Amino acid sequence: MIYKTWEELEKSIVDCQRCKLCKARQNIVFGQGNRNAKIMFVGEGPGADEDLQGNPFVGRAGKLMDMAFELVGIKRDEVYIANIIKCRPPANRNPEEDETVACMDYLRSQVMLIKPEIIVLLGSVALKNILGKEYGITASRGKWIERKGIKYMPTWHPAALLRDENKKIDFIKDLMLVMEEK
Ligand code: URA
Repeated sequence: MIYKTWEELEKSIVDCQRCKLCKARQNIVFGQGNRNAKIMFVGEGPGADEDLQGNPFVGRAGKLMDMAFELVGIKRDEVYIANIIKCRPPANRNPEEDETVACMDYLRSQVMLIKPEIIVLLGSVALKNILGKEYGITASRGKWIERKGIKYMPTWHPAALLRDENKKIDFIKDLMLVMEEK
């Protein structure tokens, strides 16, 4: 179901038990930022730091993303940041199908309420769950995909930059494309 107001959405998620991830979570990581943002970022799901603090991208990958934001002139409080799933999977494994299916209405509602012009898809899980399983991140990153009036920019997940230095430049280039477009 799509929630038509932030109040309805917040009320429905506050004690969410739609999937098994509710059992071990410390906090639901709902999303953070400007609810009137033109640009929205969508990641995969909370890690340990996010689970503890209740906000998206506050761990190592998030710090790296903040550095890239600063380089290209993106301010966290101007954009909105959310994830495909709102609760941390054990040992940071990828979300399972039943979890994404249970959680996607929350993200859909956030998108409907924010009405962003641009959605930056951070990594393969965000790309596949939003645009379809047929998309691969390696081939899709750095290229605009337009759907129903929203421009999507797939790029690497910030955690991938921690594993592979070469991806940092791609990530910054992709963010620069976003800044040119907005
Ligand atoms: N990775 C994600 O995909 N999202 C977060 O919020 C943190 C790390």
